[in-house]
Amino acid sequence: MSKIQERVFSGIQPTGNLHLGNYLGAIKKFVPLQNDYNCIYCVVDLHAITVWQDPAEMAANIREVTAAYLASGIDPKKHIVFNQSQVAEHAELAWIFNCVARMGWLNRMTQFKEKAGKDREKASVGLFSYPTLMASDILTYRATHVPVGEDQKQHLELTRDIAQKFNNDFSDRIKELSLGEPMKVGDETVQGYFPITEPLIGGPAARVMSLRDGSKKMSKSDPSDLSRIVMTDDADAIAKKIRKAKTDADPLPETIEGLEGRPEADNLVGIFAALTDTDQASVLKDYAGAQFGTFKPALADVAVEKIAPIADEMRRLQADPTEIDAVLKDGSDRAREIACETLADVKEIVGFVGARR
Ligand code: TRP
Repeated sequence: MSKIQERVFSGIQPTGNLHLGNYLGAIKKFVPLQNDYNCIYCVVDLHAITVWQDPAEMAANIREVTAAYLASGIDPKKHIVFNQSQVAEHAELAWIFNCVARMGWLNRMTQFKEKAGKDREKASVGLFSYPTLMASDILTYRATHVPVGEDQKQHLELTRDIAQKFNNDFSDRIKELSLGEPMKVGDETVQGYFPITEPLIGGPAARVMSLRDGSKKMSKSDPSDLSRIVMTDDADAIAKKIRKAKTDADPLPETIEGLEGRPEADNLVGIFAALTDTDQASVLKDYAGAQFGTFKPALADVAVEKIAPIADEMRRLQADPTEIDAVLKDGSDRAREIACETLADVKEIVGFVGARR
């Protein structure tokens, strides 16, 4: 399989407390892509352990993300759903990419700086090299399109840089082995093995913010439960959290410009739009001039209508993990087949002996 085919890859970390931001910012966007692409959706457990994870909770968290994929409408028979640790090739290719990527590139990653905080000396080496593993996830399948949230844009850029450097460095060799395809780099043409992956970013809820503070991202680690709607909330909990969401005192504006400087209003209108598959402008068309006393109950109704059935199905799946585990096993086997092909090609490109069976 030398020619590059169109393919979608994305991943979610199994770190517990899957919330509305994960759903609207990621999973919900994964679903329609199934109509246009071959899709691979991964539970990235190797990424999760870049910060401490309690092993006693790991299995439940992996099954939670898997359940969310399935309950949201991802078809594991037509596409592939699996957990990263079961396909060893991700870690293998990540090593090779560690030798392609430059220290300077990784030093610029803002997510590392945020997650490592002040005490950078104490961060795991894995947290630092996180982006090369992410590049490996994507390029193990030579994925051409990756749906991600706004916050992953820089990691996608790095993935493109790694693919480009690999293609450039090994161009002669790739050609000699009749792999890959010609690609334009500036006004030169190189024989490239890896695609230059396109991010798919955007939509009304590319960033879902905390319900308690519109300037902070909705997060699994926020100490306040009221700050997020989790995918396992029942109808009462969803309605309560929206009722208690922070707002300002003004009615909703007529246009998107009117949301400027009103982060909480902006967030709630964005959530409404994402849940109902429209955009903020058309939500404002319906609710211009409305007080939050009117808008919040409408939003709560929509959220319950859209989220509660997914939460119910997740609970059903998680009650007996047999089905989930079978999906992950089958998905891993199918993913591994593609991954082995790529790694054999890559080892041959790099010049290792014994790459081809
Ligand atoms: N870093 C991503 C996040 O935290 C998760 C991720 C890991 C990912 N590997 C990926 C996303 C590959 C897209 C493609 O959201």
